[in-house]
Amino acid sequence: MNDDLPTQLIDTFGRVHTNLRISVTDRCNIRCFYCMPEHNVQFKPRSEILTFEEIVRFTKITAGLGVNKIRLTGGEPLVRQNLDQLVRAIRGIDRIDDIALTTNGILLADQAEALKSAGLDRLNISLDTLDPDTFFKISRRSGLDAVLAGIEAAQQCQFKKIRLNAIAITQLTESSILPLATFARERRLELRFIEFMPLDADDAWSQDQVLTGQKIRSMIESEFGPLVPKTDVDPSQPSTDYSYTDLDLCVGFINPVSQPFCGSCNRLRLTAEGQIRNCLFSTVEWDARKMMRSGGSDADIARLLVECISRKKKGHGIDSVEFDRPQRAMYQIGG
Ligand code: 5AD
Ligand code: SF4
Repeated sequence: MNDDLPTQLIDTFGRVHTNLRISVTDRCNIRCFYCMPEHNVQFKPRSEILTFEEIVRFTKITAGLGVNKIRLTGGEPLVRQNLDQLVRAIRGIDRIDDIALTTNGILLADQAEALKSAGLDRLNISLDTLDPDTFFKISRRSGLDAVLAGIEAAQQCQFKKIRLNAIAITQLTESSILPLATFARERRLELRFIEFMPLDADDAWSQDQVLTGQKIRSMIESEFGPLVPKTDVDPSQPSTDYSYTDLDLCVGFINPVSQPFCGSCNRLRLTAEGQIRNCLFSTVEWDARKMMRSGGSDADIARLLVECISRKKKGHGIDSVEFDRPQRAMYQIGG
C-alpha cells in the first residue's frame, strides 16, 4: 500500500474504526416487521452482490487500515451458499483476530459445525420470543423450532461465545422477556436486549414501541434479583452489560434510542452490494463495488474508506427533529 495512506481509520471526533460489519446478502428466509416489508421485497440482483473474492479483497484492505474484528450479517447470512468458505478465507487474513456472525438461527443446525471448523469465533442468534404465536407475529413465518434446534446444535460446537439477541417492543414482546431470561439462564447463554430502532421497511416505527433497556432491566431485577454492572468490558461495545447476583452470566442492554452510544462507535459497514457506510443511519454511501469492478487499486479503495470515515457524523440523532431516516431498511444495510 502507498506510504501516503494512513494506517488507521480515524474520524474527525477521534474514533478509531477497528470493527467491520459485512452484509453477505440482503435475502432472508423470514420477514421480521422491524427489518423487512411483508410483501414485494426488493432484493438486489445476484450480479450486484459482492462475490466472496471481492469481500475478501475489501476485508484485507480494511485490515491494512487497522480493522481486526469482523461480523458477518445479512439479511440472513446463512442463506448465502457456502458461507463457511468465506469464513475460512477471512480467517486467513493477517490481523483479523475475531470473526462473528449474526443469524436468525433457522439454518444453523445444518451449518454450525462447518462454520466452527472454518474458524468462526462467535455467534449472535436472534431470538425475540419463545412463544410461537409471537414469533409468527414478528417474523410473519413459522420457524421457532428450527431456531431452538439451531441454538442446541451451536452449543455442541464449542464456539468462543454464543449470545442471544432479543429486540424488545412494547406490548408485543413484554411477556417474552422473563421466559427468555429464564431460558438463557438455564442454558448459560448470554442475552442482550436491543431497543427497536427506526430501520423497519414500512416506516411504522414510533417511539412508544420502544421498550427501553431500563424498563427491561427492572423487570429482570424484580424476578431474579439485583443485576451487577460488569467492569471488564470493551468500552466500544454498544451494550451495557450486567451479571446476575446468583449466577455469573451476562445479561446486556443495547439502548441506541434511550441512551445513544455513538460517542464510542468503532464500526463501519459494507452492504451486500458493496456500499461502504459509516453508520447504520447514514444517508450517504461510498461505492466500493464500482471501484473494485472498474479496476480501482487497493490504494484507491483505502482512500475511499478514509474519505467515508472522515465524513462520519457525531451521532444518529434519532431524537432530534432534524432526524433524517435512511432510505434503506435493516435488511438492506446489515444489522
Ligand atoms: N431495530 C433494532 N434491531 C434490529 N434488528 C433488525 N432490525 C432492527 C431494528 N429495526 C436486529 C435483529 C438482529 C440483527 C440482525 O439486527 O434482531 O438481531
Ligand atoms: Fe431476516 Fe434478521 Fe431481518 Fe428478521 S431481522 S427479516 S431474521 S434479516
